[in-house]
Amino acid sequence: MANQGGLEGIVVADIGTSYIDGGIGVLTYGGYAIEDVAEHATFEEVTFLLLNGRVPNQSEHEQIRAAIAMNAAIPDELVDMMRSMPRQTPAMSVLRTAVSMLAAFDKDAENLTDKDMAADKALRLTGQITTICAAWMRIAGGLPPVAPRPDLNLAQNFIYMMTDAEPDDTASAAVNVYLVLLAEHGMNASTFATRVITATGADMHSAVVGGIAALKGPAHGGANAEAMKMFLDIGEVDNVVPWFEKHIKTGERRIMGIGHRVYKANDPRAGILKRHAEALANSSGQRKWFDIAVKLEETARADDYFIQRNLYPNVDYYSAIVLYTLDLDIDMFTPLFAMSRISGWSAHIIGQMGGRLIRPKANYVGPHDLTWIPLAER
Ligand SMILES: CC(C)(COP(=O)(O)OP(=O)(O)OC[C@H]1O[C@@H](n2cnc3c(N)ncnc32)[C@H](O)[C@@H]1OP(=O)(O)O)[C@@H](O)C(=O)NCCC(=O)NCCS
Repeated sequence: MANQGGLEGIVVADIGTSYIDGGIGVLTYGGYAIEDVAEHATFEEVTFLLLNGRVPNQSEHEQIRAAIAMNAAIPDELVDMMRSMPRQTPAMSVLRTAVSMLAAFDKDAENLTDKDMAADKALRLTGQITTICAAWMRIAGGLPPVAPRPDLNLAQNFIYMMTDAEPDDTASAAVNVYLVLLAEHGMNASTFATRVITATGADMHSAVVGGIAALKGPAHGGANAEAMKMFLDIGEVDNVVPWFEKHIKTGERRIMGIGHRVYKANDPRAGILKRHAEALANSSGQRKWFDIAVKLEETARADDYFIQRNLYPNVDYYSAIVLYTLDLDIDMFTPLFAMSRISGWSAHIIGQMGGRLIRPKANYVGPHDLTWIPLAER
């Protein structure tokens, strides 16, 4: 079979976690429309849904919230290791290294078969990844890390550990919506990476490290940070059109946060985040970045190149504005994506456990029938 590149259109698993119809911009989690989920759900409810295939009742919701919060602490040795890393280390590299080290401290890390144990491990990792993110922000800023609180949900705990103050409701709600929207998305690149690793029989921490590595790239999770750098580079609303003419019309750059392998219509998550970005922009009095993003979207969507290729803002475009307005360092944008996607990765990893090795073929295009000339004669 001819090589299409990028495995586009190849089906590699049957899943119940999410459904995407990219032609009309539909996304559902376990049968629930993403718009409905984003309006009502906590990240903990979504995590429960992804892991169990159904929504939790109130006591199950409290159980999963507590299980995440009460297991979110990270070992002192890990904090020491993070302190020893150069401050300019990209936060995604810190997270990748930290999750790898966590395996050494997890009593069940090497159990490769028990799915209940794997679900508990997934909840530990969910809390710990958030703690690592908040701890690194503080360490990189020269501040002592703050331990997680057992009484908070994940979004609140993140704000609390980041600020060392009672979490603000508006900020917690914005982080919660972000976490809900990014939790799961079919066979995206990082999820596929976690499945490939799991299918070899390797452990969950290894699979999650692989997921973080894949998410780091600007064609995937790294796009949220690149989108914000682009908005900052544009600087003013009046610069949008000249910037577009100079960098995009010439083919020199791509608009980060626009285009998607699956969506050839509006990404429904982008629309939801756009509304949140606007509300946050208004309440913070910092409308400029939102206005630049809107103007650039309008400029691109009026351009034949973008119309013909069905290129629309994806989830990373307006999430960049949401995260920036929450005062997060740009370097932390992609780790926040990982903080959320750990729930989808976990569900896929558990679904893949015990499954068949993933081993596609390559099409050999090199020479045949060469004779090996000994090194001394070359
Ligand atoms: C997401 C992305 C990697 C999808 O890639 P893909 O499915 O392999 O699509 P392609 O790279 O083949 O792009 C298809 C066409 O649209 C163009 N295109 C895609 N995204 C573009 C963008 N953001 N800006 C300008 N042109 C873009 C490509 O140049 C290509 O044009 P061509 O047919 O003339 O060669 C791509 O859209 C992209 O790089 N976007 C920016 C990064 C981003 O936001 N990533 C996050 C994804 S959630």
